[in-house]
Amino acid sequence: MVRSNGQDEMLSLLSWLQAMGADAAVGDTAQDWLQRGNDAPGAAFAWPDRDEAASATRPAPHAARGADEGQSPVRARAVLGAPGASGSPQAARPRAVTPLGASEAETGARRIARAANSLQELEAALQNFDGCGLKATATKLCFYRGAPSSDLMIIGEAPGRDEDLAGKPFVGRAGQLLDKMLSAIGRTEADVHITNVVYWRPPGNRTPTPQEALACRPFLERQIELVAPKILVAVGGSAAKEMLGASEGIMRLRGKWREIEIGDRKIPAIATLHPAYLLRTPAAKQLAWMDLLQIRSKL
Ligand code: URA
Repeated sequence: MVRSNGQDEMLSLLSWLQAMGADAAVGDTAQDWLQRGNDAPGAAFAWPDRDEAASATRPAPHAARGADEGQSPVRARAVLGAPGASGSPQAARPRAVTPLGASEAETGARRIARAANSLQELEAALQNFDGCGLKATATKLCFYRGAPSSDLMIIGEAPGRDEDLAGKPFVGRAGQLLDKMLSAIGRTEADVHITNVVYWRPPGNRTPTPQEALACRPFLERQIELVAPKILVAVGGSAAKEMLGASEGIMRLRGKWREIEIGDRKIPAIATLHPAYLLRTPAAKQLAWMDLLQIRSKL
């Protein structure tokens, strides 16, 4: 095939964008985000009122703006193949807007999450929730994997590519190692509940922003109430910081029991190393093993 110079330039620009981590289509037309000035993206987002929140079944109240706002201009403009094209539940949905008003997102999410009385209802509420911008670029919602009710709940950082395609947390290489770690303390998928701090894959596998975590947090708290675990395990630095409300690095946070207040319960929680880190740094497995022993004895 003969290509013109212009096509070659476009292709090389696309490869550069891909190399920069822009791997998701977020709109049909390019947008100049710098021209928006200081206008908060998503400012026009209308939260449902209480009655609507209770049913939590409405589609997005606005048309798509066509971008995962709150990310770098490069990522927001990238068009590298349509996500959700596989007929996933999100494929036919309008694009969501990322509300950067974090407390607004959190309040709206809390109303919706509280109304869910089962994991099924919570999942349905999440499917209809457009307050977390990650949904715009993700293929599928990743709610949980494992037992609906368990004494052991594992909370990771965010779905990656494999999870995004499967719609389940921790199914890639890191997930396989996590399963091995759990089996070392006598656990299988049938008796553990596995989820993440955010329910959708961040583009390019970046760390979720505090706003994204905050928007998902009320759903996570409701999920914890419904699963009713005896202990919580935060996996990796980002999940540990988010769950334990701490700012130290994972090496300081791991291996120490703390309590997390969820509803009217105080739940013992511990942080450990992320299996993806253990894959890169096998020498750290001995630290993870010490954490696993603590988890086993607490159970
Ligand atoms: N890493 C995570 O933190 N969660 C997943 O679901 C997969 C990889």
